Amino acid sequence: DLRTEFLDLPLANPLMNASGVWCSVASQLEALAECAAGAMVTKSCTLAQRDGNPEPRYRATPWGSINSMGLPNEGFPYYLNYARCHDYERKPLFMSLAGLTLDDNLTMVAELREAVTPVIMELNLSCPNVPGKAQVGYDFEAMDTFIHEIADAYDRPFGVKLPPYFDIAHFDEAAAILNAYPQIAFVTCINSIGNGLVIDPVSETVVIRPKDGFGGIGGDFVLPTALANVNAFFRRCPDKKIIGCGGVRSGEQVFLHLLAGAALVQVGTQLFEEGPLIFPRLLEELQAIMTAKGYDRITDFQGKLKTL
Ligand code: DHB
Repeated sequence: DLRTEFLDLPLANPLMNASGVWCSVASQLEALAECAAGAMVTKSCTLAQRDGNPEPRYRATPWGSINSMGLPNEGFPYYLNYARCHDYERKPLFMSLAGLTLDDNLTMVAELREAVTPVIMELNLSCPNVPGKAQVGYDFEAMDTFIHEIADAYDRPFGVKLPPYFDIAHFDEAAAILNAYPQIAFVTCINSIGNGLVIDPVSETVVIRPKDGFGGIGGDFVLPTALANVNAFFRRCPDKKIIGCGGVRSGEQVFLHLLAGAALVQVGTQLFEEGPLIFPRLLEELQAIMTAKGYDRITDFQGKLKTL
């Protein structure tokens, strides 16, 4: 039995896409709505439509992916329109917001507040790919200001998508900021490991065009960092839910994210590679692991990671 709950909503299972993958246009969103995933999220949007960075801007390697998409998206009104039409009986819908400025985010949040839709906001504080724009999640003062203003302008529970952190002091500081806002109901860990560089030894070149080849890293490379961030925030934010993201390619990594404390688990790179039919495969593999271990339900092991 893979059923679970999130913010009092029933879900068929804990799987969803990671924002950015298979969720930019209505045909992709409809495919997610119809697939086996228990929930779904829209592409991070800006106030207005954007073309994004020049191509090629995504490449997969055997161990993971690199991307510097640059926020290509159809613009906030397009995703709000999708949110108004979505069938929430089928599965919950999250909407990812990534305004280029605080003011843009406040404008979108004000409209979302007035919209009559049960869509759940995931505020993206961690896009690494817009030239000249630092990640808000790596500037704790800016992050606090951002969250403060958005929490003031929005009257519903919401979540934040964080970049990966690599230092215990940073886990502590980020969690302290988040814990000051009871309205933050969930934390999604992690966005890509920003600004990696993949090099092709044969051609002696970078593999994506934007930013001299620098881009966000996902896939196998990021799993231990993702699990650390999930578990670090799970331990520090007992009143919030954690959504795990990073390095999921089979049911085993879904199991590890849940064990580390994730309530839901997102799939990015491997969804890009396989498409939405990855979800029934992951669910079968997760069920097989649970059956072998004698677990009937996700709550039997969720967050129950053992230490030595
Ligand atoms: C993009 C990449 C991200 O990791 C993100 O969080 C938002 C947008 C992008 O390049 O489009």
